[in-house]
Amino acid sequence: SKAEIGLIGLGTMGAALALNIADNGFDIAVWNRTTAVTHDFHASAGDLAPRITPTDTLEELVQSIAKPRAIILMVPAGQPVDDQIAALRPLLDDDDLIIDAGNANFHDTNRRAREAGDLPFLGIGVSGGEEGARFGPSIMGGGKREYWDRVAHILTAISAKHGDTPCATWMGEEGAGHFVKAVHNGIEYADMQMIAEVYGIMRDGMGMDNAAIADTFAKWDKGVLQSYLIEISGKVAAATDPKTGAPMLDVIVDAAGQKGTGRWTVIEAQHLAAPIPAIEAAVVARNLSSQREARAAGETLFGTAPHHMPHDTLTLDALEQAMITGKILCYAQGFGMIAKASQEFGWSLPLPDIAKVWRAGCIIRSAMLDDMAAALGEDAARNLMFAPKFAELLKSNHAALRQVVAQSALHGIAAPALGSGLSYFDTMRTARGTANMIQGQRDFFGAHGFARTDGGEGHHGPWGS
Ligand code: 6PG
Repeated sequence: SKAEIGLIGLGTMGAALALNIADNGFDIAVWNRTTAVTHDFHASAGDLAPRITPTDTLEELVQSIAKPRAIILMVPAGQPVDDQIAALRPLLDDDDLIIDAGNANFHDTNRRAREAGDLPFLGIGVSGGEEGARFGPSIMGGGKREYWDRVAHILTAISAKHGDTPCATWMGEEGAGHFVKAVHNGIEYADMQMIAEVYGIMRDGMGMDNAAIADTFAKWDKGVLQSYLIEISGKVAAATDPKTGAPMLDVIVDAAGQKGTGRWTVIEAQHLAAPIPAIEAAVVARNLSSQREARAAGETLFGTAPHHMPHDTLTLDALEQAMITGKILCYAQGFGMIAKASQEFGWSLPLPDIAKVWRAGCIIRSAMLDDMAAALGEDAARNLMFAPKFAELLKSNHAALRQVVAQSALHGIAAPALGSGLSYFDTMRTARGTANMIQGQRDFFGAHGFARTDGGEGHHGPWGS
């Protein structure tokens, strides 16, 4: 009998996803550009091998799948996806579905959906790394709803479950799924950066060793901050280098890689005029991290920083509270961007469901998302920081973020994401800001006009001619 679905691209993620699909009882046909990879994959599939049909050519792949066909692409984002679609389409019937499950830029997915015209196409964001792909990722779908419905039984079966709720949701037309995945990655960057900053404060400011840092993350993982990223940060801090016996963290170069999804989010946020400063700070921090030589030269020129903090300058509780505050603000920014995009692109993105689909399987899964889903369910247009539950948390924790940012500044420890989170908080609680000065300046040099506090637009100042 023929396979229910096909998959192209048996790299790490593709192979894991194919095994997951087979493991959930679906027969799957697979193809990889290098035939040996396909056969090695099949040979190592163990008990699942009978559910997997390895194929040597694209034609054979297509012939192995039951009609109407559905084929998942798991090839590198960008041109390889276009090339693969171009090679595949002529072999397919008009009602066969192509699903791009890679980390596509959502603009590309928009374009591909339009290019597909009436030919079925979906772009789905898949989060959770290799383990997620194998045992249950979080899946964010985009494209025509009828095409999603065609494969929803498979995608929900293979997805992560939060309780009984599958983490696989249709987000909207065209690139909506890949857009939501991009914002997920933006939040991922900011959360990772804030954790790295707190690690830096513990290491350089408080003089803690890796074991103590690991214990701290492990303890936080039992509280409000309970999340995958805090959990793995503790494990990373606890690990030992098998080669030297040194703490693993101490032998890892401090220059962060990036494939670009966080950057796409920031670029898009600027197009949308959606303020996501913590995410921007995180992308900038990754860019700066790669300037290792310049940083070393700077240390020689300006003197060593960071400096140890005197004992009892900061408590670990204050650090935890600062992280809680920063995390809420970062998610508030991410959801704010999604709300803005939803309006701009006419997508009706389901904000509460987005919080729900992130509760399991994905990299940013975290205990807080339950309350976020509830808060967005009450009022999706409201900034999350004003939802009663989060307003309470911010009220009781923002003083700690202030302490942490201030002490970091005083001791020369860079904390850009936490710092920008604090600025965002203070901006969002200041009824009378300072943009009146900007407006005065704009009117002075360009006669751009300003609104008056006592009414009316388009006024001008007395700066004269
Ligand atoms: C996920 C991750 C994943 C991401 C990689 C690398 O949700 O599973 O976001 O999709 O692509 O972790 O991302 P960077 O190379 O940009 O750090």
